[in-house]
Amino acid sequence: MENMHDRLPGMNIVVVGHVDHGKSTVIGRLLADTHSLPMGKLAEVKERCKRNAKPFEYAFLLDALKDEQAQGITIDSARCFFKTEKRRYIIIDAPGHIEFLKNMISGASRAEAALLVIDAREGIMENSMRHGYMLAMLGVRQITVLVNKMDLVGYDESVFNNLSREYAAFLKKIGVTPHSFIPVSGSEGDNIAKKSARMPWFDGGTVLSVLDDFCAEEPPEDLPFRMPVQGVYKFTSDGDDRRIIAGTVESGRAAVGDEIEFFPSGKKSRIKSVERFESPASEEISAGTAAGFTMTEQIYVKRGEIAVLAGINPPKVTSRIKVSLFWLGKEPLDTDHEYIMKLGTAKASVRLEQIISVMDASSLENKDQSKILRNDIADCILSLDREIAFDLISELSGTGRFVLVDRFEIAGGGIIREALSDSHGPARDKVALRNMKWEKSEIQGEVRAARFGQKPLLILLTGPSGSDKKGIARTLEKNLFDAGYNAYFLGIGNVLYGVDADIKTAASQTVMRDEHLRRLSEVCYLLLDTGIIVIATAVGLTREDMKLIRISAQPNEVMVCWVGSDITTDILCDRVLAAGPVQAAADELMTVLRDEKIIR
Ligand code: GTP
Ligand code: MG
Repeated sequence: MENMHDRLPGMNIVVVGHVDHGKSTVIGRLLADTHSLPMGKLAEVKERCKRNAKPFEYAFLLDALKDEQAQGITIDSARCFFKTEKRRYIIIDAPGHIEFLKNMISGASRAEAALLVIDAREGIMENSMRHGYMLAMLGVRQITVLVNKMDLVGYDESVFNNLSREYAAFLKKIGVTPHSFIPVSGSEGDNIAKKSARMPWFDGGTVLSVLDDFCAEEPPEDLPFRMPVQGVYKFTSDGDDRRIIAGTVESGRAAVGDEIEFFPSGKKSRIKSVERFESPASEEISAGTAAGFTMTEQIYVKRGEIAVLAGINPPKVTSRIKVSLFWLGKEPLDTDHEYIMKLGTAKASVRLEQIISVMDASSLENKDQSKILRNDIADCILSLDREIAFDLISELSGTGRFVLVDRFEIAGGGIIREALSDSHGPARDKVALRNMKWEKSEIQGEVRAARFGQKPLLILLTGPSGSDKKGIARTLEKNLFDAGYNAYFLGIGNVLYGVDADIKTAASQTVMRDEHLRRLSEVCYLLLDTGIIVIATAVGLTREDMKLIRISAQPNEVMVCWVGSDITTDILCDRVLAAGPVQAAADELMTVLRDEKIIR
């Protein structure tokens, strides 16, 4: 019996709405009236209420279930299960918006449809709108609005009609066409599982019938293949140089023999084998599975890249994006701070570049303000400190959503509306072509690293002119060399008068700055490919400069050090070195290199 039902298709439904509007009551009633509660549960909870002289509430059923389910596992939102002839349902009673947001964005409990509960007597409140907006933003398109507590308004048709009209107008503003509106009473059971005789004027379905009426989403297997790279693992046996690219497939499918391209790096290889942990051998990976694959040609890719099928619907790559987001942070989102953006497995530092519009999520009125406050929703432009790969929400939702982290806490989330150009397009194109034409060596980077006892790294020393960057660089190079490592100090002059000879004219200095930096980074890239540690110096690098350098240097790691006490540009650096004795700074860096396992 159980097995037969297990084969039914499943659907996740989230129940949202303003506090106390009756979400838990509606769910409890639905479970009770469809006989989905464990045997004796209803009687037990009723009995307990009676003993404590407390009026019975259907919402208590959820708490009772939650206690039961929570033994051994932590659950952040109450989940209930029930089934009809057609489907198995998971009903998620979202406890608050942060949890709701986290779950939705992380995909932990992606809902395909939603029930939005509004109290007939109290009417539309802030969260009625805020939650409606979040659903729209998160791409939950099937929304049924339950006008609850109809018993408290005498089952009055006009109350239902007015509320429905008002809320439909709101949904229209945010581009949502609701599936339906249903007048219900959770506590009395009207129109939950059975049609109510108290509202003969209503000719629509019940909550139960509407659930079965929702359409299942298109299986993401039919969408373009996207697998954010979670990690790259090496086979450990001797002489085996294969690597497993591991991650969870967000959408689509890929099979042995398929050519895979990684973004942002643009590197390509073919799937040689599919590695599933503790699963039967397979030739294919598809949406929703955690999997790994090995490749015919070993290329260096890392966490944060997205694997796609080569030549088919490539994702976008840039460092500037137009987004819609909602902000739940205690501190406002403003242009003066850096935040962390997480999208898939990619992580970048992000800054608010420009606010296009801020809306009060409960009135949808545009507000005129230069910060995004808690509970605001906004359209804005974000500038990342490095390029990332993603999709537009209109094209692929799994890789088009992100969360923002402020001081280690998720403080917002949003969707990407547009990829904006970031002035590094030409450099990016050159790198893509270079990668395509790259003559691959027989010698793996890891093999070099094992031989040399060190990993390649670009150490960039920047700061005001006059801080002794070169002194530190030379000392560090010498210390590394004396300790038996391969390191090279690359002064800007080494590039300027040779590689840059054709563009080294005083008149065009500023125009050519980007090209100088690009060439410098290309030279670094070559040196890094030989497996050595490169120490380069440059005056007053900025956040934009670093983006450009990373485009050429990736996937090699870059360590940015500011030399001097005050950081005078907008650069994000890994370390600040006091401008003092060069030996002390070089010693400090040696320790960092050991700690970071760049050298042994
Ligand atoms: P939170 O989880 O705290 O946000 O609340 P909720 O939306 O889950 O509301 P809940 O189901 O806990 O109901 C809140 C109160 O409204 C309880 O006292 C319920 O008994 C009451 N209530 C819920 N539905 C109805 C209804 O249809 N009619 C009447 N009269 N009361 C209801
Ligand atoms: Mg509740």
